[in-house]
Amino acid sequence: MADDLKTVPAPHDEHEPLGRATFSAFTNATPEDWQKIVAANAVFSKGHVDRIVTHLNLLKGDCGGFPIDRLEHSLQTATRAHKAGMDEEYVVCALLHDIGDTLGVFNHPDIAAAILKPFVSDKNLWMVENHGIFQGYYFWHHIGLDRNARDQFRGHEAFEYTAQFCHLYDQPAFDATYESMPIDAFIPMMRRVMERPKRSMYLKKDGENAW
Ligand SMILES: [Fe+2]
Ligand SMILES: [Fe+2]
Repeated sequence: MADDLKTVPAPHDEHEPLGRATFSAFTNATPEDWQKIVAANAVFSKGHVDRIVTHLNLLKGDCGGFPIDRLEHSLQTATRAHKAGMDEEYVVCALLHDIGDTLGVFNHPDIAAAILKPFVSDKNLWMVENHGIFQGYYFWHHIGLDRNARDQFRGHEAFEYTAQFCHLYDQPAFDATYESMPIDAFIPMMRRVMERPKRSMYLKKDGENAW
């Protein structure tokens, strides 16, 4: 950043309601600086779900050889879970389970798990984190891998829960004739599930979110 830019407070606007901090390093920041940043972050946080939707939409048109594109697969997985009566948190996990396909080519479940971690139960988090290995049961024998790799988790309390996610909602969600709900139908669910973090390094002792 040029010297003349880093010391000039930005004009007040809706994104920076208290203006911009003026420190050059955290060691010389003041409480007032941090008030400005926290105020700006409160605005930025409101766009969280919209940014996730933007990223989810990056999966559109990317089939990767599959019968349907990755966005349609995501919508189909979520629609199947919703129509089966699964709760909103589960449906949002289903919707986002493959959102990491673009950035995490070799570990895509980790990306979805990281996004969902503040907002979902331990069980749903484990399911999202491990769905890749459980999904492998349905195709890894075709690509030279061990389809039973999921067996390393037998005995885990979320084993059957995760196996059911893949069996009922993930592996059948490649049907080009299926009518999925549109992404807009899931956005209110995402907003409700992601309204407040349940776990975050920014939660204060009184449960309030500092960030
Ligand atoms: Fe996946
Ligand atoms: Fe999937």
